[in-house]
Amino acid sequence: MTTFAELGVDQDIVDVLAARGIVDAFPIQEQTIPLGLPGQDIIGQAKTGTGKTFGFGIPVVQRLGLDPAPGVKALIVVPTRELCVQVYEDMDMLTSGRSTSVVAIYGGKAYEGQIDQLKAGAQIVVGTPGRLIDLNNQRLLDLSHATEVVLDEADKMLDLGFLPDIEKIFSKVPAIRHTQLFSATMPGPIVALARRFMTNPIHIRATDPDEGLTQANIKHLVYRAHSLDKDEVIARILQAEGRGKTVVFTRTKRAAQKLVDELSDRGFNAGAVHGDMSQEARERSMAAFKAGKKDVLIATDVAARGIDVDDVTHVINHTIPDDDKTYLHRAGRTGRAGKTGIAVTFVDWDDLHKWALINRALEFGKPEPVETYSSSPHLYEDLDIPAGTKGRIATAPKTQTVRTQQPARATDAAAEGETTAGTSRRRRRRSSGSREERVGATFAADAPAENGAHDTASGTTDRGAEGAGTHDGGGREHHDGKPAPRRRRRRRPSAGGAPAAS
Ligand SMILES: Nc1ncnc2c1ncn2[C@@H]1O[C@H](COP(=O)(O)OP(=O)(O)OP(=O)(O)O)[C@@H](O)[C@H]1O
Ligand SMILES: [Mg+2]
Repeated sequence: MTTFAELGVDQDIVDVLAARGIVDAFPIQEQTIPLGLPGQDIIGQAKTGTGKTFGFGIPVVQRLGLDPAPGVKALIVVPTRELCVQVYEDMDMLTSGRSTSVVAIYGGKAYEGQIDQLKAGAQIVVGTPGRLIDLNNQRLLDLSHATEVVLDEADKMLDLGFLPDIEKIFSKVPAIRHTQLFSATMPGPIVALARRFMTNPIHIRATDPDEGLTQANIKHLVYRAHSLDKDEVIARILQAEGRGKTVVFTRTKRAAQKLVDELSDRGFNAGAVHGDMSQEARERSMAAFKAGKKDVLIATDVAARGIDVDDVTHVINHTIPDDDKTYLHRAGRTGRAGKTGIAVTFVDWDDLHKWALINRALEFGKPEPVETYSSSPHLYEDLDIPAGTKGRIATAPKTQTVRTQQPARATDAAAEGETTAGTSRRRRRRSSGSREERVGATFAADAPAENGAHDTASGTTDRGAEGAGTHDGGGREHHDGKPAPRRRRRRRPSAGGAPAAS
């Protein structure tokens, strides 16, 4: 074990970390900080929850000096708004012993506060691509002196959805700069691509050679489950011994909202984070989850990467992730900073081929997930669920969840497929028969945007500001972050009428 002081970290930073009980560096920090401090370009790869943020953050802060002149000198780019807020908080903490100031620049939020902080001379910007480009285009964000550049979740930032934005951002920062790319997953082709933006980078992989591809602190369970039984299974898992905070991932925003309603109805304290919610509501949910006021967070892949919440004991994949990388990131919301966790994945019959790929890529050796029902004895054993547990908290007061008329089956299928719809508000509207056609039209209108990275449907200049800033993973939710009310206004009632999948 090496202390941060021994790695050459400045005393004020050592002190703010020590005040939080952080004295010894984690392996990725031990390996990257001594290289990052003198300005070596780095591709830093280490498993989820192993401290990559300080791995790049400490060199950034220290290289700007104790008292940097006003103006943006460092840029940290992240894929989602929630991660933006979190990395901002980490950077703000690291700089609390010096004059350096940090600003978070992300979509879904008023411009004023962000612009004011830039005008006040903030030196470190943490941002999502859309809003960064937006403010840069408006000449409110000058990146021409940003000699420190970091892509967190770098493989995500360099995949097709974000790449054009990232290229644009790199064209605005100085050619001579210090560039750091970090992620838990770094596929070979992305590493090759990354080199285009770097100067003689060193690829550092902080992995224990004895460890497998997955986080050793996480127990992975996979079940073949019936979609009609899943809610019941989840509700029983939520009563497992030692169950702390739990993140449940769904494929679609709509499924996320449905599950929140369902679990609330069953007496659980659940909140959601997905792209059909206003940014305010998203932040409220995250805050409630962090504070423990809600202990179940139901999310789309918007929360799959980077999010660090203490004491998440269980991650549940209500729907299987799209690939092995997303699997690792989702599961990695538990088992962080040396703690242990459990990741449970449900595989639908239709998704067995997806599981086959994940199983092979991550070398799980479980090609055939066990068929599992809410009453299966092995479920109780594997997860330590007390015998006799049913999927409803008996003592809980019935909540006031408004039950709405279920949409027609074809409409339902279209919603799942297109990853759209989902707020209870919207569902309430849908239940008023005359709106049915408009809902169908929404799917049609949204569909083009799902394929491309950008909001071709709206054609407005804020496309990146809202959309790209909340890239959701999997390519299905590129526009997850768009505030629902604006989207509704853009809807074209005449575009299609019938749901695509009908
Ligand atoms: N040296 C350390 N000692 C103790 N705790 C640490 C140390 N470094 C970081 N942490 C804590 O570990 C947790 C995980 O860190 P971080 O979010 O940086 O992980 P990560 O590697 O970026 O994970 P992900 O791949 O999910 O983004 C955070 O709560 C952080 O405060
Ligand atoms: Mg991280």
